[in-house]
Amino acid sequence: MSNKLSKTSSNGAINLATDLERLRSLSGIKWQRYDDDVLPCWVADMDLAPPEVALDAIRAVVDRGDFGYNFAAAWKLGEAFSDWQDRAHGWKPNPDRVVVFSTVLHAIEVILWETTTKGDGVLVMTPIYPPFLDGIAGAGCVAVHCPLEGPDRHLTNEGMDRAITGAKAAGTPVTTILMCNPHNPTGRVFSREELGAVANIAEAHDLLVISDEVWSDLVHPSADAAVDSADVDVDQAEGRAHIPFATVSDQAAARTVTVFGPSKSFNLAGMRVAVAHMGSEMAAKALENMPPHSRGGVNVLGAEATLACWQSGHDWLAETKVHLTSQRDHLSERLASELPTIGYRVPEATYLAWLDFGPLELGADPMKFFIENGKVALSQGTPFGPLGEGFARLNFATTRTVLDEILDRMVTAVSNR
Ligand SMILES: Cc1ncc(COP(=O)(O)O)c(C=O)c1O
Repeated sequence: MSNKLSKTSSNGAINLATDLERLRSLSGIKWQRYDDDVLPCWVADMDLAPPEVALDAIRAVVDRGDFGYNFAAAWKLGEAFSDWQDRAHGWKPNPDRVVVFSTVLHAIEVILWETTTKGDGVLVMTPIYPPFLDGIAGAGCVAVHCPLEGPDRHLTNEGMDRAITGAKAAGTPVTTILMCNPHNPTGRVFSREELGAVANIAEAHDLLVISDEVWSDLVHPSADAAVDSADVDVDQAEGRAHIPFATVSDQAAARTVTVFGPSKSFNLAGMRVAVAHMGSEMAAKALENMPPHSRGGVNVLGAEATLACWQSGHDWLAETKVHLTSQRDHLSERLASELPTIGYRVPEATYLAWLDFGPLELGADPMKFFIENGKVALSQGTPFGPLGEGFARLNFATTRTVLDEILDRMVTAVSNR
């Protein structure tokens, strides 16, 4: 059977699956959920093949038929994660404190389950990636919403404190912050000042911080240039470097679990690999007390593919980011000229655009409007929490042709209304 995606070139260059027929033949949920006449830009998968180094690693296991009890790659993931973080973000986590999970959400849910008591409050920065809310409810906890503030959607000490003290007064003691940095859906990369405020709040209220940094490799330029400098403080207009929350202070590190994985950076969600760095002793102990196999594990193909990416995926990622930034900028230009009343803040990271359709008066659910009138499948806004009404999320990690077709259809749907 032929490869559904055209192969990446041997020098590791990214390869977009350029023709729609091929994209539609992929078996993942992005292209299968809707009819063939719908263009999907919802779930956070990219329309490009993973790096050749990952595909080679997978092929090598398959060619050897090496599917016994094989943990060789899985045991190296802690070290590889630490090296990757060091090189990408200037943080050298201790590999001995790294626990492997099958997905980032798996890690978050296990940690919530093991470290909270039913009825505890978990602070989230709203709007927020919907599975966070499901995971919190699944652990028997209560989501305590801290709305991001202002048109630039920033975090403040006062906002977090207000949410925590309000919840406490209503009988919900907050014990945990579940942070998303960079932030899905807004694409915010939190500044040192904002992260410092989170650290202060965590200290003041004695909170565990679970920091989901799965988007941290996908920060738009010129943010990365600042990573080398000790004091990362990049002008907002030029982009901002990702700051691992565990690097904010020693106190912050000691109350943090950082979760990360290859699913976003390398388009490997189906490979089911993630890691958690247990900076918090309390959380580490809680996991140690679990029955040995209850945390699950990763399979040999996922572990080999992830290891290959973290060891040799740098060039591919750099090239992918150039493409994503150019898609982001193209989207920004077209929105500004053709749908100028939509509320939109250029994302500093991710390949997601969080769009406020309120001014167009398309109703509470613009996603429904665009499916019905434009055959475009965005992510629905309301599952992102109380601030999601009137919003939808657009995934621009596709080819320029597909993105243009999506935008053409949206513009036409709006003008035919
Ligand atoms: C913030 C965030 N965390 C976690 C995930 C899912 O990661 P995984 O598939 O590793 O659970 C996503 C997927 O889009 C995400 O946006």
